[in-house]
Amino acid sequence: MVNTKYIVLLLVLLHLASGCNNLTEASKNPLKVPTLIDTASKKEIQLVLKKSQHQFYPDIKSNTMGINSSYLGPTIKLHKGTKAKLVFTNNIGQNTTIHGHGLHVSGDVDGGPQQVIKPGTSWKIEIPVAQEAGMSWYHPHLMGKTAEHVHAGLAGIYLIEDGNSKSLNLPKTYGIDDIPLIIQDRTFSNGKMRPYKVTHDQMMDGLREDTLVVNGTINPSHTAPKGWVRLRLLNGSNARFYRFFLSNQSVFYKIATEGGFLDSPVSMEELIMAPGERNEIMVDLSNIDKIDLMAEFLPADPEDQLFFMNWFNTTSSVLELKTDESIASSGELPERLNKIKYFTNADVDKAVVRKFTLEMDDDGEKIMDMHNMFTINGNSMEMSRIDERVKLGEIELWSITAEMMPHPFHIHGVSFQILRHNGKPPAESDKGWKDTVVVSEEPTDVIMRFNHIADEDAPYMYHCHILEHEDGGMMGQFTVQ
Ligand code: C2O
Ligand code: CU
Ligand code: CU
Repeated sequence: MVNTKYIVLLLVLLHLASGCNNLTEASKNPLKVPTLIDTASKKEIQLVLKKSQHQFYPDIKSNTMGINSSYLGPTIKLHKGTKAKLVFTNNIGQNTTIHGHGLHVSGDVDGGPQQVIKPGTSWKIEIPVAQEAGMSWYHPHLMGKTAEHVHAGLAGIYLIEDGNSKSLNLPKTYGIDDIPLIIQDRTFSNGKMRPYKVTHDQMMDGLREDTLVVNGTINPSHTAPKGWVRLRLLNGSNARFYRFFLSNQSVFYKIATEGGFLDSPVSMEELIMAPGERNEIMVDLSNIDKIDLMAEFLPADPEDQLFFMNWFNTTSSVLELKTDESIASSGELPERLNKIKYFTNADVDKAVVRKFTLEMDDDGEKIMDMHNMFTINGNSMEMSRIDERVKLGEIELWSITAEMMPHPFHIHGVSFQILRHNGKPPAESDKGWKDTVVVSEEPTDVIMRFNHIADEDAPYMYHCHILEHEDGGMMGQFTVQ
C-alpha cells in the first residue's frame, strides 16, 4: 500500500515539475493575424509563393516559405454566389501546387497533384463560390512534397460568407473578436525552426514536434473585447492531434465544423482535432480578465497510453486571451445557427457504397520499399491510376477503416455527413458538414453527393491528412463525371 502511495506521490511531483516548465516559457508575443483579402472588393487577387525568412523568436531568422508573407498566407474571404479570381505565382524555385481544401470546386481548380505550378509561372483560377459559409484552407499538394511545403509555411485560410453568416449576430470583427488560428507544431534549436526532415519512425507516426506555432507566432497573446470571441481553429500540423480546453476548465461552444455551421451551438469542455480539421468555437470573456486556450499534445496512438501516462503529455498554451473593456464587442452566441439538410434513410438505401481500408506496413520487405508502406485498399497512390469513378450527383456512402493509429481521412471537392464514427453514432458536435474525419479500426461511414466534375486529367484525391502518410502513398484518386 505504502509503495503505491509513494508512486502516486512521485507521479504527482513529476507532473507538477513538468507543469512548471511551461510557466517559465519565453515571454508572450502579440498574435499575428493573417492579412484579410476580401474578394468582393478586388478584381484579381495576386498571391505570390516565395522563399523567405521568418522571425519566430525576436531577431532570429528561420528559413521559411510564405504567400505574400514570410510565413503562411493571407486569409481570403469568398462570398457565396460570386466568383473569385485568384492568381498563384510560384517563386519558390521548385514545382508545387495549391489545393483548396474544403472547397466545392471542379477538379481543374482543386489544385491536386496533377495541377503543377512550375517555378516562375502563375496558376490562374476562378472559383465559383457555391457552398455555404465556413472555413476552408489552401496548401500545396505536390506528389511526395506536400509535407515539406506545408511545413515550410505554405498554407492559408479561405473564409466563405453567405446570407446566413452575414445575418447571424456573431462576433464579426476580423482579428479582434473573430480570430483565425492556424495551429502547428515545430522544432526550434537556438530559436531557429528546424527544416523539414523525417526519420523512418517519423514517417510511421507522422512528424510530431514539440513547440506550438499559431499563425506563425510563438507564445501568442491577444487582447479581445470583454464579451464573446469567435475562434476559428485550423489544425494545420503535419501529424499532431491536439486536445483543446480552456485553462479555467470552463465550457465553450462549438458553432461550426469544416463545411459550415452546426444547427445550434454545442457546449463542450474539450475538443480533439486532427490535422486538416477545422472547428469554430465561441468563448465568453465577459467575466474574464485573462484565460488561456490550452492544448494537450496527443501521442500517435492514444490507446498505447497506460493509466496516468497522459499526465506526461505536453500541455501548452495555444493563445493567451486578455480582455479590455474599451474594445467594443460585436456579437453574441445565437441560439440557432443553421438548418442542415440531413441525408435520410432513403438516401442511405440508394447510396453507392464503397469501402476503404488504410494500412501501413512496418515489417518485412516493405521497409526497404517506402513506396508501398502506406496503402488504401492495398494500393499506394499512383498518379496514373484512377481508383474510383463516381457519378455526378449520385449519393455515395463511404465506409472507412484504418489500422495502427487514428488517421484523419479527407475527401476533396465535397462536404459529407457522418453516419457512424468508429463504429458509434456521431457525437452531437460532429453532426455538421465535414471533409476530414478521424478513422480507426471500427468502421466510419460518411455520406455525400458530388456536384462538381473532376475528370481524369484533374481527378480528386482522398487520403490520410497525416502529411507523411499522404506523401508515403496513403492516398487514392477518383473522378466525378
Ligand atoms: Cu488538405 Cu488533399 O488536402
Ligand atoms: Cu483537400
Ligand atoms: Cu495516416
